[in-house]
Amino acid sequence: MNKSSELVARRNAIVPEGMGMFSPLTVESGKGAKIKDVDGKEYIDFAGGIGVLNAGHCPKPVVDAMIKQTKKLVHACFPVAIYEPYVELCETLADLFPHGKKTKVMLTNTGAEAVENAIKIARQATGRQGIICFTGGFHGRTLLGMTLTSKVGYKIGCGPFAPEVYRFPFPDHYQRNDGLSMDEFVDRELQAFETYLHNMVDASQVAAVILELVQGEGGFVVAPKKYVQGLKTLCKAKGILLIVDEVQTGFGRTGKWAAYQHFDIVPDISTWAKSMGSGMPIGAVIGNADIMDKTTKGTLGGTYPGNPVACAASLATIAYMKQINIEKKGTEVGKTVKSFFDELKKDCAAIGDVRGLGAMVAFELVKNGDAHQPDGDLCKQLIQACAKKGLLIISAGTSGNVVRVLSPLIISKNELNTGLQIIRDELMKLTSAPSSPKKINSKS
Ligand SMILES: Cc1ncc(COP(=O)(O)O)c(C=O)c1O
Repeated sequence: MNKSSELVARRNAIVPEGMGMFSPLTVESGKGAKIKDVDGKEYIDFAGGIGVLNAGHCPKPVVDAMIKQTKKLVHACFPVAIYEPYVELCETLADLFPHGKKTKVMLTNTGAEAVENAIKIARQATGRQGIICFTGGFHGRTLLGMTLTSKVGYKIGCGPFAPEVYRFPFPDHYQRNDGLSMDEFVDRELQAFETYLHNMVDASQVAAVILELVQGEGGFVVAPKKYVQGLKTLCKAKGILLIVDEVQTGFGRTGKWAAYQHFDIVPDISTWAKSMGSGMPIGAVIGNADIMDKTTKGTLGGTYPGNPVACAASLATIAYMKQINIEKKGTEVGKTVKSFFDELKKDCAAIGDVRGLGAMVAFELVKNGDAHQPDGDLCKQLIQACAKKGLLIISAGTSGNVVRVLSPLIISKNELNTGLQIIRDELMKLTSAPSSPKKINSKS
């Protein structure tokens, strides 16, 4: 038995069954876009700890900043004693992501906690209770986060769920176009949304609509720009707040600091986590000050949110991202992956759709070229085959049939191209079509 198998056996003996396991790989260390397992085998990392490592594993400036902060102050609890890294991080985020004339920010430990707080704020600010979320959406593992989440497999036996949550179909053109052009589809969907506010929940009862502009766990489905703009206008007219969940899309992943910057809208409130701390547990709620200040003192807080070391990591991550131009890196990685997958689709009938925004790129595996016959088994086999060849990659989608790339954005061209070639070779083997060794420029 090697060390990895031993660790997996120990894990299985002590960790409850319900704990998710995307892949059976172990990891001892990580640097840049690579990890090493406990047996010393190297892997290219296309998972990035589920989109957390846009700036890579252990970036030196972030590690240095954490060490420096750890020697000064590890914990205080922000409501108990005010420390500068918290305030500075809020100021930095408000500068990066202005939400109207004046912006206010609060910090959290996780994405789910950011979502919970965004909803507490929206409810207080509007005096309404209803929340509308979307099919395919994912907003975390807390009770409210799970309630807002569409993936039923994550919720089995966990109810009852939180009340006053309504779910509306996500504008997924690939799955639900019914032969309509994108424009016609968007018009139909916006009309259906208005109807929903008459026959499911009255607009006067709705505090907020929450959506991911590119669904992460849902399979990298991109909301049409015209739909998002229409939704924003509709919400504004009805006094409903628009919460954009940027937990997976933020910090360069889509080729911009924020996904909403692609849509020419500014949300009322947004939620953040993952890559903002390079792996340290830190998240944020950002919003227009008029909304954020309509909260009663003492209703927001917690022991750990905005921990000083996590704040230092986040400040250093943002400074490093600015220095290396993370937006450009995201755009470049995205272009390479998208064009590679577009080419692969031509040779592989199992790929039903290639989609994404910036470096958030995925392909969907289907049977018989039919969008409604997801091939989750093929996806599982592909992930395992890639792992054997030294590539860590994970799936997405409510049927687990979407292969998504969430590699660090600092990945070298050589690592990126090697990883893509592994996907191509293994997919071609599994679908038993001949693999033509298509090479891409691979200097890095
Ligand atoms: C869009 C989105 N929101 C919220 C969350 C929950 O974040 P966390 O796991 O940090 O609680 C996730 C996690 O994958 C996510 O992708």
